[in-house]
Amino acid sequence: MNPTAESATHNTPLGEEKQGEVYLAERKEEFAKRYYIESYGCAMNFADTEIVASILTKEGYGPTEEMDGADLLLINTCSIREKAEDTVRKRLKIFNKAKRANKGAMIGVLGCMAERLKSKFLEEEKLVDIVVGPDAYRDIPSLIAGAEHGNKGVNVLLSREETYADISPVRLDSNGVSAFISIMRGCDNMCSFCVVPFTRGRERSRDLYSIVAEATELWEQGYKEVTLLGQNVDSYKWENPETKEVVSFAQLLVHVAKVNPKLRVRFSTSHPKDIDDEVMFAIRDHHNICNYIHLPIQSGNSRILKLMNRTYDREWYMDKVKRIYEVIPDCAISSDIITGFCSETEEEHQDTLSIIEWAKYTMSYMFYYSERPGTLAARKYPDDIDLKTKKRRLQEVVDLQLEMSHQHNLNDIGKTFEVLVEGTSKKSDQDYKGRNSQNKMIIFPKVEGIKIGDYVMVKVGDTTKATLKGKIVSV
Ligand code: SAH
Ligand code: SF4
Ligand code: F3S
Repeated sequence: MNPTAESATHNTPLGEEKQGEVYLAERKEEFAKRYYIESYGCAMNFADTEIVASILTKEGYGPTEEMDGADLLLINTCSIREKAEDTVRKRLKIFNKAKRANKGAMIGVLGCMAERLKSKFLEEEKLVDIVVGPDAYRDIPSLIAGAEHGNKGVNVLLSREETYADISPVRLDSNGVSAFISIMRGCDNMCSFCVVPFTRGRERSRDLYSIVAEATELWEQGYKEVTLLGQNVDSYKWENPETKEVVSFAQLLVHVAKVNPKLRVRFSTSHPKDIDDEVMFAIRDHHNICNYIHLPIQSGNSRILKLMNRTYDREWYMDKVKRIYEVIPDCAISSDIITGFCSETEEEHQDTLSIIEWAKYTMSYMFYYSERPGTLAARKYPDDIDLKTKKRRLQEVVDLQLEMSHQHNLNDIGKTFEVLVEGTSKKSDQDYKGRNSQNKMIIFPKVEGIKIGDYVMVKVGDTTKATLKGKIVSV
């Protein structure tokens, strides 16, 4: 596929616009009622869907992949860009049709758009029954009960404590090899373009022991990789209520890495201002903490970064990248980039292009600026770059990043990597796919005796623009 500006707006671990996913019904006969759920947005939203699934299971609901016949139709929404909200509104039209066809069915809107629009949702969308924000999922059963008696319900209370630490997620849509673990919620950074602090509330960190217990349980179930999730993982900070000892993100990483040396540990997302030497040393010193850091820059220009309220400038970011490559020479770094932010000039856009080249990102998630109501930027700065310019700049960024990714891949030819086998390649059932520590996907022919979840050594022989190809050289 030839990526265009449009396809480049696809998902980031904590971005959005991943297509809605529908989950398979297992053990159909055991449940009295059925829920159908679609999820949009970032990995955290998908992880939340697994919390909601757990809450619903206790209420006697089982999942279904068909809207037809479902008792509860749920949509877990994203607000990060206008397009994400447009997608949800389109899907709700389809949900409304299904509700009319299924007598007694209810529609629930969950997630960030629910939080942003609150009770306005019920006015705008007459067929919606419940609206539930990201910190109120425990209230879903009582909201459903109320709606069954004709009382439409809204709970969008944000919490300073809720981390759902005690709820064991139902792993939906899993390959049985990799799983997400939420380690914190909310965000205290006020990037001027971003709606997340408003939809997810204040930052709070989850109990260390519940995280380690979840990782241990996943390992025991056969999982080989966990990704620790948060909008800003490096500011993880948990105080043990008994000892008052404060646990940092670097310490958490090491605790999870020690669950088993064969359990790969990844994390997302790192804010450049918070990642420190301790985190880099943890990566360097533990083979199973992957040599990969997602370090969004957003813009390569210091004036724009200041307007974005990112709290670092170009030079500071460059020093951080230099330090990463110094401590972990084979580390892969990726980024998020926004083009056409308020008042961005052509020269300032050039600074973004040059930093992509300089930082040698293995990949980036790239977007054009979308003004979000209520944010600092929406209140203070005119959205004055026309759409055509925003899109043209985005295309330039996409083209350059593709070129850089290709260069990076060409440099890998001849190298041998440890790869975790994640599944069969989409293109050929004769091939496996898996990623190396640097998070690069490698395709290689299947070999007798090797199964999904195994680690293998793969020598790279070839590359396309996006994917490495190789052969197993040893197990
Ligand atoms: N917490 C993460 C990012 C979460 S949102 C971080 O700080 O890195 C994922 C990405 O969406 C952001 O990094 C940014 O590139 C993009 N994004 C957020 N708000 C946006 C907006 N209003 N318009 C365009 N892109 C946006
Ligand atoms: Fe948004 Fe900034 Fe928080 Fe990321 S760090 S979620 S971009 S406010
Ligand atoms: Fe995630 Fe979208 Fe909310 S990116 S935090 S689901 S606004």
